[in-house]
Amino acid sequence: MDHFAYRSGELYCEDVPVARIVESVGTPAYIYSSATLLHHYDAVATAFAALRPIICYSIKSCPNLHICRLLKDRGAGFDVVSGGELLRALRASGDPAKIVFAGVGKTDDEINLALDSKIGWFNIESEAELANLIEIAGRRGVVARAALRVNPDVDPKTHRYTSTGKKESKFGVDLERARRVFQEYGRHGSVRLCGIHLHIGSPVNTVEPYVSAIRKTLTLIDELRSDGFAIDTLDIGGGFGAHYKSSEAPPAVAYAEAIVPLLTDRVGGANPLSIIMEPGRSIAANAGILVARTLYLKKSGERDFLIVDAGMNDLIRPALYEAYHFVWPVRPATGFVPAERGESTTTMPGCLPMDVVGPVCESGDFLAKDRMLPPMQRGDLVAVFTAGAYGMAMASHYNSRPNPPEVLVEGGAFRVIRRREGYEEMMAGESVT
Ligand code: LLP
Repeated sequence: MDHFAYRSGELYCEDVPVARIVESVGTPAYIYSSATLLHHYDAVATAFAALRPIICYSIKSCPNLHICRLLKDRGAGFDVVSGGELLRALRASGDPAKIVFAGVGKTDDEINLALDSKIGWFNIESEAELANLIEIAGRRGVVARAALRVNPDVDPKTHRYTSTGKKESKFGVDLERARRVFQEYGRHGSVRLCGIHLHIGSPVNTVEPYVSAIRKTLTLIDELRSDGFAIDTLDIGGGFGAHYKSSEAPPAVAYAEAIVPLLTDRVGGANPLSIIMEPGRSIAANAGILVARTLYLKKSGERDFLIVDAGMNDLIRPALYEAYHFVWPVRPATGFVPAERGESTTTMPGCLPMDVVGPVCESGDFLAKDRMLPPMQRGDLVAVFTAGAYGMAMASHYNSRPNPPEVLVEGGAFRVIRRREGYEEMMAGESVT
């Protein structure tokens, strides 16, 4: 579900024509719908309400401060993986007690910053990291709260680069090792190891891997408790899907229907577990588009290329994961206004096969490959959909291309929430002497 729709032949974000926004901010540009962000946040909150979870928005998916603030005002905590993300969470007025800090390579500076900020939990990825945290917290005379990330060895059936729950993954420790970690480090004064963290992959478009991972983890929690460890938190991570091609992602209620019954008995009673969730993509992905302008059309061999002014530096997902993003003109030629948006639209009669490519000097610089599109002309705007998560978040300066602006639409109004970067700004940290 999102608030991007074609009305009278052109694409709108909520009540604002996308073309009007780019008249003002230029291209390429990221445009987000605030109603869509909030809708998806609320969908998770409502579906999982029985568990009273702390929903820690995963900042890495779409880190804009304004968006963090919007979600914080709705009740979100934050999942952070670096000092930079932690500062974003705090600058968005995030409640430190609702911040979880994950990541396999936390530096001492980052750990100190997190201790200074009194965050809720450190999500621990290895024994060595835990030993280091124990040392730093001990030296400072403070007590940190931590959850051990376990790797339940389930296959989330997602891209190999974003699959994290298998035994061979660099994240977390396997279930056997987890028990040993508790035996060795679970009774230290300076770190209260009181939680288990899971994150099996992203996107996970089926519910079974969650069910299997949570079942295995609950068995571990029972074992740890019977060994005398006070486990009071289970963080089930993120990974819920989003609609890229059509409606392939289960809605939040479908995940909840499978997950909530496993945990309802655990959140009450004498030994209650606090549940943490870390959604990112499922909140932000469908809430954002990347808009680009057609620079040139060209033919090479038998292939037609649509060359646009957004490239892999603006949206790297197609290049990195061969990810599919639906692409369609903002003002399609007459007869090509989609009744329903999504991959099926590309079968409309009169569409032509094209590669939508950017200006970056790499063959991997494409936004869509061999895609059926309506006839296009120089100057035409195209929207790249489902770009709200891991879009701007992964943008780079490759080819010395400044970062695009980010715009947030709220009903009939829009505002720039990150200005277009200028050349001077891009080079500001460098010197010629
Ligand atoms: N928690 C942890 C520990 C994570 O590593 C991640 C994502 C999340 C939560 C949020 O997952 P989400 O709900 O967004 O699926 N760049 C890739 C995705 C990488 C995900 C990394 N970790 C992409 O563009 O598909």
